[in-house]
Amino acid sequence: MRDILGADFYTYQGFFEKASEIAMYYGFRPIETPMLERENVFTSGVGKETDIVEKEMYTLRVRGGEKLALRPEGTASIMRAYIEGGMHTMPQPVMLYYYGPFFRHDKPQRGRYREFFQFGLEVLGTSKSIADAMVIQIMTTILKEAGFKNLCVLVNSIGDKTCRPHYIRELVSYYRKNMGDLCGNCRQRLKGNPLRLLDCKELQCVALKENAPQSVAHLCEHCKEHFREVLECLDTIKVPYSIDHTLVRGLDYYSRTVFEIIDDEDLICIGPRDEQKKPAKENKEKDGDVEGAPEERALPLALGGGGRYDYLAKQLGSKKEISAVGGSIGVDRVVEAPQLVSLTPRIIKKPKIYFIQIGFEAKLKSLTVIEVLRKARIPLVHALSKDKLSIQLAIAEKYGIPYVVILGQKEALEESVIVRDMSNRSQDTVKIEKLEDYLKKKKV
Ligand code: HAM
Repeated sequence: MRDILGADFYTYQGFFEKASEIAMYYGFRPIETPMLERENVFTSGVGKETDIVEKEMYTLRVRGGEKLALRPEGTASIMRAYIEGGMHTMPQPVMLYYYGPFFRHDKPQRGRYREFFQFGLEVLGTSKSIADAMVIQIMTTILKEAGFKNLCVLVNSIGDKTCRPHYIRELVSYYRKNMGDLCGNCRQRLKGNPLRLLDCKELQCVALKENAPQSVAHLCEHCKEHFREVLECLDTIKVPYSIDHTLVRGLDYYSRTVFEIIDDEDLICIGPRDEQKKPAKENKEKDGDVEGAPEERALPLALGGGGRYDYLAKQLGSKKEISAVGGSIGVDRVVEAPQLVSLTPRIIKKPKIYFIQIGFEAKLKSLTVIEVLRKARIPLVHALSKDKLSIQLAIAEKYGIPYVVILGQKEALEESVIVRDMSNRSQDTVKIEKLEDYLKKKKV
């Protein structure tokens, strides 16, 4: 967990503003959910046997015995809000965006913090494939606008409750035959969460993945059709993607489409369905543990990920199934990337005035003058702790600020200030009540 301040704060702010603006143009509305939720929102939603819930969730027991958790992700909370808020009565689908801090007690390492920031999109109340493609498109658009030029969407379909059990049986049977070659963790996962075996980075397990059964080969007709449509949409909107048969993601709520977005010059993912591209699985670092050989650590981290979660609502206690899809961007990874372009937040205003005060009387009046300038919407900088005129003038000069407003003892008594034009050093004495008009005439 870190403090974020100065230029870094503005970079985060600039990114959130840009991403929100893009989401808004696509018809998304903002939502903010609490940072603390009842623990079972995540144990039931994300899944008890996921790393996020099992190993990484910060939980606390409050007076009365209730167990709460610091949110490790946003999707389960948003579905909870949809159900509790009766959003099914609104026109469907409900399209929401959000950003803020999330918490996972992970090993601190490159691109992985215990408090990190996400920007997320959720489309609730539709099973249509166009929604999957839209989420992927908006996420890549946001990343493109942030400066990423070699984006590739790794995509897979893990089926639904009709076809996935068959696939899991095949997968378990394959891995059982190779039990002796599995790492200790994977032997455990085989019992509780066999899909996660495809996510393992241990060398012996990576080798086994090569010949493991692929989920797309076991899709039922509906899931096959859905996946085909998602890819067709991506082709149409020219989003570069690569089908990654080992992509399963670390959260249990997914069904059908799952995806991650990386930025990687070496991964040939230039066109839609480019048969010549290198298989993504050989190149990427999985969004999970980053242990392994040093060269693996240099591989790209996922900038974002997501997928469809048609059964999450029922897992959270809804009587009805609510089809939904979404994704989120890891903002820390974005703002730390060398390719990031500057995204200046609206709140930053280039100062037009350096305000100088000298002496006690002036200090008393200074807040009045600053308020006059704020009402006139003129951004300024000042150093209320400094007393020497020469030091303050030197600061104004250093930052190239066009005008200086000086409030001395005499001016404070006369309810006036001196306005100095730094380009030619000319200056006028102006009554405080006339200051706004004077500066407007000067086009400050
Ligand atoms: P996730 O893959 O766990 O998905 O996280 C999304 C992104 O957040 C990752 O791709 C990564 O960039 C970033 N991220 C995750 N953990 C950390 C960390 N410890 N430090 C820094 N960045 C991190 C979800 O959270 C899902 N809720 C996404 C989703 C939305 N699925 C459907 N809707």
